[in-house]
Amino acid sequence: MKRIFNAVLFCAVLLLATSCSRGEAVPQKASVASPSGNNTVEFFLLDDGTAAYSVQHAGKVVIDTSALGFEFNSMPPLRSGLLVTAVETDSLDNTWSMPWGEQLEVKNHYNELRVDLKEVAEAGRRLTLRFRVYDDGLGFRYEFPQQEGMGDLEITEELTEFQLTGDHTAWWIPGDWDIYEHLYNTTRVSEINAIAKRDHPNLASTYIPENAVNTPVTMRSDGDEKYYLSFHEAALVDYAGMTLKVDTTALKLTSGLVGSERNAYKVKRSLPFTTPWRTIQIADEAKDLIASHLILNLNEPNAIGDVSWFTPMKYTGIWWEMHLGKSSWDFANTQRGGETLSMDDASGTHGATTENTKSYIDFSARNNIGGVLVEGWNTGWEHWIGFEDREGVFDFVTPYPDYDLKDVVRYGREKGVEIIMHHETSAAPRTYEQQMDTAYALMQSLGIHSVKSGYVGKIIPKGEYHHGQWMVNHYNNAVKKAAAYQVAVNAHEPIKATGLRRTYPNMISREGLRGQEFNAWSVEKGNPPEHLPIVAFTRMLSGPIDFTPGIFNIKLEPWKPESQVNTTLAQQLALYVVIYSPIQMAADLPEYYEGNPAFQFIRDVGVDWQRTEVINGEPGDFVTIARQERETGDWFVGSITDENARAMNIDLDFLEPGVAYEANIYADADDAHWDLNPEAYKITREDVNSETTLQLKLAAGGGAAISIKKK
Ligand code: NOJ
Ligand code: CA
Repeated sequence: MKRIFNAVLFCAVLLLATSCSRGEAVPQKASVASPSGNNTVEFFLLDDGTAAYSVQHAGKVVIDTSALGFEFNSMPPLRSGLLVTAVETDSLDNTWSMPWGEQLEVKNHYNELRVDLKEVAEAGRRLTLRFRVYDDGLGFRYEFPQQEGMGDLEITEELTEFQLTGDHTAWWIPGDWDIYEHLYNTTRVSEINAIAKRDHPNLASTYIPENAVNTPVTMRSDGDEKYYLSFHEAALVDYAGMTLKVDTTALKLTSGLVGSERNAYKVKRSLPFTTPWRTIQIADEAKDLIASHLILNLNEPNAIGDVSWFTPMKYTGIWWEMHLGKSSWDFANTQRGGETLSMDDASGTHGATTENTKSYIDFSARNNIGGVLVEGWNTGWEHWIGFEDREGVFDFVTPYPDYDLKDVVRYGREKGVEIIMHHETSAAPRTYEQQMDTAYALMQSLGIHSVKSGYVGKIIPKGEYHHGQWMVNHYNNAVKKAAAYQVAVNAHEPIKATGLRRTYPNMISREGLRGQEFNAWSVEKGNPPEHLPIVAFTRMLSGPIDFTPGIFNIKLEPWKPESQVNTTLAQQLALYVVIYSPIQMAADLPEYYEGNPAFQFIRDVGVDWQRTEVINGEPGDFVTIARQERETGDWFVGSITDENARAMNIDLDFLEPGVAYEANIYADADDAHWDLNPEAYKITREDVNSETTLQLKLAAGGGAAISIKKK
């Protein structure tokens, strides 16, 4: 469509715009470039006065004319018939520090364009658009200023478009309103078919209403001058999660907000308010997507102050043994709950006993591991999966009769190991909300500073979805409340990460993808070898992942002989570096670590980083990342590949020049293979420096993990 350039004409027609009334023409289009000039956003109006934008990268149009707007309940849409009343630019160039993270210092450098819009029609509704353009992409959001005649706003749909300029290769999961635990698909945009992904035997809740994808969704263009795009959102606060509806013919994505069956709207807000940022990461090389901090930079600075009470750490847990079926979360053979249970009800399979916890504490203390997660410690588990009446069932302060919470905390403290709390809400958030204060206060009184929460199942109240506004508020409120009790949160079945960890750095990690646990019980044979090389370029762009790496007993025998982990053991080690999280589980049973020389890597590897260097990578194929530990300055390198074996050279030019280092390399054995020979590895030691080039050979489904320390 043709853009409108004739601002003067519009001013003549309509004397509403302030600057027009002063006799100056307000330009009806504007553009803003990133600091280096590699990305440019143009804003303009279409013939019918619809607000639109386009994006250029390195002189190529990567997002063509894309319209913006909203539909409301009991109010006409806000889309066409708009005028620009003011345009302003701004910029920022500063650096901020992460209390914990992939690196200490983050540069935040952008140019901004603000466009104030007003309806020509009598209602004269006003809306502002704010674009921030960075060298690694852009974000834009809508801002609804306070105005007459608009009190509470009921948004039925957001109409944000992203017009692609080619039939890109896309890595996507369906736009499920309830869960992100899908395998990734690799198809052309024109071939995206989310509806075909509806059937999921392993998901306790799933709802895919239309042909949409969830974000982050990452794409690669064709041709010699190819580029990568990744679409997501930043600062998802008091709003519904955004999926992207796919027009497979026009190659256009359009926002599809997650709704609720309880309301005639998807988002309800009172003015003034701003929407989350809609983000597009743009890179010439895939590895630069991982290095980008766009999502974090678009979030507000730390709002909770010092979080030094949370220490990034490795942890073990009474966890994998339940997924393997060695022990159970439940204590009893009865569905009777709560304080009426006694030792007479014990089924004999319960994992979270005082004795078992102490042995995990001993193991962790011996192996430089700071935490022990205990699942199944509290009453309610007998009445969980498959039950409709889950409200009031879980109790977050009452331990089972065979678990002495105070005693294990005391024992852990003696050994320098912290207990990690577990709150499975069974997707009954109202029950959790009623108990949150008491539960977090109990933790604070015991000196427990982190909780893993969970939301398995269909949300109660019925009609709400995990990714809708109501649940977004629940998840965010839990994190804010937890901060008041010095508690950090790692949520499973969460809302997606949108960089809020910058504002609330007690939001430490989350699941929100198909994790390791699927390998133990999925009827689809677990995660294929390409899974994590896709995750690194999709889900991981949004934030830390509690993937729970470190399975050494790859074939899961004798527990689950029909299932297995589809990587080599060496790849399991590499994941501690490749997959970022400030908490990293050593997920396997201690008996599979004892006596295994490869376990030395898990003992050594850091969890909190000074610097991160993404060395190479291609979505779905391979990725290599080097990270420098904050306290020690030691470097760790992780490299993983899909089902294809590959050889690569890694330059260690990130090391300090002129310094002698020793590298310990944990590599696949020559005959290793994810399926045929997954546990075969070799450890070699080499003197290295900043001029060394290491030759790595990764087996099919394999990996390499390297620790590099100063001599
Ligand atoms: C699902 C979580 O992802 C898993 O880690 C946990 O063990 C179970 N829910 C039980 O809460
Ligand atoms: Ca899960």
